Formats: sequence, structure tokens, C-alpha cells
Amino acid sequence: MKSITVKASRTYEVKIGAGLLAQAGELSAPLIRGRDAVIVSDSNVWPLYGQTVQASLERAGFRVDHFVFPAGEASKNPQTLVELLTFLARKGLTRSDAVFALGGGVTGDMAGLAAALYLRGVSCVQLPTSLLSMVDSSVGGKTAVDLPEGKNLVGTFTQPHLVLCDTDALKTLSPAVEAEGWAEIIKYGMIRSQELLDFLSSHPAGADIEWVIAYCLTIKRDVVAADERDNALRQVLNFGHTIGHAIERCGGYSIYHGEGVAMGMAIMTRACVRMGRCPAECRTVLENLLDKYHLPKTCSMKKEDLLEAARADKKRRGDAITLIQPDRLGSCILHKTDYSELAQVLDLGMEL
Ligand SMILES: NC(=O)c1ccc[n+]([C@@H]2O[C@H](COP(=O)([O-])OP(=O)(O)OC[C@H]3O[C@@H](n4cnc5c(N)ncnc54)[C@H](O)[C@@H]3O)[C@@H](O)[C@H]2O)c1
Ligand SMILES: [Zn+2]
Repeated sequence: MKSITVKASRTYEVKIGAGLLAQAGELSAPLIRGRDAVIVSDSNVWPLYGQTVQASLERAGFRVDHFVFPAGEASKNPQTLVELLTFLARKGLTRSDAVFALGGGVTGDMAGLAAALYLRGVSCVQLPTSLLSMVDSSVGGKTAVDLPEGKNLVGTFTQPHLVLCDTDALKTLSPAVEAEGWAEIIKYGMIRSQELLDFLSSHPAGADIEWVIAYCLTIKRDVVAADERDNALRQVLNFGHTIGHAIERCGGYSIYHGEGVAMGMAIMTRACVRMGRCPAECRTVLENLLDKYHLPKTCSMKKEDLLEAARADKKRRGDAITLIQPDRLGSCILHKTDYSELAQVLDLGMEL
């Protein structure tokens, strides 16, 4: 098992290893004063892991209830959030009790937000079960639900009390959902670590997953510690995401987030190579990794549609746009520019 300490507005531990869901009770009990617990989970994850977590919490002396919602991003909305808050109120959860988020990023984001809002904040333990939620969404404190007007428009920055990444849970992921996690892992390598890129390139897919997750979370921890509220440096974690979000939006969200990020990273990197802003090896290494992890390298959408979608996204951030650009292998820089440069990036980067 590996352990990482995150020092943000709250200091907390992230543990990574096999069998951690069955230890959720004993590991969280010392951190929580109350003994009422609500497990929040989705309709796919609850039948797989709900009983394991419930039994572990009960062994540690918790009284346990569960709130299960239909799996999928469509549930990450204010209606489900209010249902969850109402559930917590009806169960009489107090400020010293806790919410346990058991599932992927959708569960973690929504349960994290409910825990932040209910009684102005109760403890939240994150039990991420998808690769993406282990390497990304469960750590860093961003919580949110979506509005019809856009993703993650209602949320807070509220750090969890504990995060347990049980690598055994990865065994039941579908290949497409697993691939999304790999897109974010490759992203960490591209923005911060040639060592991680080398490891991913030279080892079989999935090798030493505990080390890989811990390594990614160390990068995320350092970025979050430097810029918890996403004012500057934390934006580097958005490498591939500006174009990726535009691709997701154009595809009516039928395209997985990780696929969008993969295409976004590849388009940006090819454009940077072609503009002479980074060496050609950035492209070669990235594209080889995307192939290896079964991720796409470009999209067949129209440039104009992508620009339109990016513009809709951009409205909320003012006129300037920050592009995250590779400058060498394992390093990206923030490049504040205007919207026209995104058009140039798409022109140069969409061609393989
Ligand atoms: N808070 C953040 O910092 C942050 C960062 C990145 C992404 N996100 C959010 O995370 C969400 C995406 O996360 P996700 O991909 O985990 O989505 P998800 O929670 O919808 O999980 C994807 C699918 O995998 C299933 N699943 C999860 N774990 C499983 C397991 N062990 N076995 C079988 N099936 C399993 C889920 O039921 C779901 O159908 C988005 O809403 C995104 O906005 C948040
Ligand atoms: Zn992402």
C-alpha cells in the first residue's frame, strides 16, 4: 500500500492499494466523531462493492444507510443533489457524521458537493472506483454538479477527509471507462514527468498500477498545494481539455471525456511541433502511448464546430484563453492568448 499526504486547506491522507474498500471502516473511524454514515453510490458500483464497504463500516461501529442513483453523468445534476441532501436530512445526519462517496467521478463530485453543503459541511471520505477518479477527481477538492447550460457549473472547493483507492476495484471496469483513466495518466506524464512517460512506454499496460496512481497523485498534490483554487498553475492539469471539452460538446457527450482529452492533447501537441514550440519527440511519444492505451489521436469533427463549442465554453472565462502547450517532453507551459490562436492550433493540429 502507498500513502500520500495532501496539504491543502485541509491536510488528509490518500491511500492506494489492494483491498482498501474492506478497510474503509477501520481507516476512517479515527477521523470521524459521529457514527452515522451514508454511502453514496451509483447503480453500477453499489451492487459490486456496496456490501463490502457497508460491512467494513459496520464492523467499525458505524450505523450505515445508502443512497444509490442511476449511473452516468446525466445524474450529476441539481435534482439528484437535492434528493441526496433531503436523504441526509431525513436520516438525521449531524455535523459529526460522514458521507462516503463510493464510485467514479460522478459519484465523488456529487457526494462531495452534498457533504460540503449539508449543515455547511460534514466529513466526506472518497472511495474512488474508476481509474479516472483514482488518479484525478477524488483528490484536490473540486466538487460539482452540472446544469443544462454546462458541466460543473455549481460546486465548491472542499477537500475530503480521506481518500482510499482500492486497486482491486479496477478489475470490473469496462475497457472504455478504463481507457479514460489512462488518458489522464498520460496527461500527467506530458505536463510534469518524463519519468512517467518512460515508464508507461516501456512497461506493459497496467503494470505496477499502485505506483502509477501514487505517482500521478503526487503530481496532482503538488499542483493543488501550489494553487488550490485554480487561479493559475492548477490550469496545467487542463492540458488537452480545452479542445477535449469542445469535442465532447460537439459529440453531444457521446464521446467519453478521456477520449476527448486524448484527442485534445494530440491536436495541441501536433500543432506545437508544427509551430516549432516543442520537439518532434513530444508528438511521437504521445501518439505511441495513445495507441498503446487504445485512445484516439484525432477527430473527424469540423473545425468550425469545435471553435463554436470552445467559444461557448470560453464565455465563462472572459476574453483571454489559456492554452496548455508542451514545451518539451514531460513539461507544459500556460500560454495566455486570444481565441484566434485556438483556430490556428486546430488548423495545424487536426491533420495527422
Ligand atoms: N473533481 C475533479 O477534480 C474532477 C476531475 C476530473 C473529472 N471529474 C468528473 O468526473 C466525472 C468522470 O468520472 P468517471 O469517468 O469516473 O465517471 P463515472 O463516475 O460516471 O464512472 C464511469 C462509469 O464507470 C462505472 N464504474 C465506476 N467504477 C466502476 C468499477 N469499479 N467497476 C465497474 N464500473 C464502474 C460507473 O458506474 C459509470 O458507469 C465527470 O463528471 C467529471 O466532470 C471531476
Ligand atoms: Zn479530465
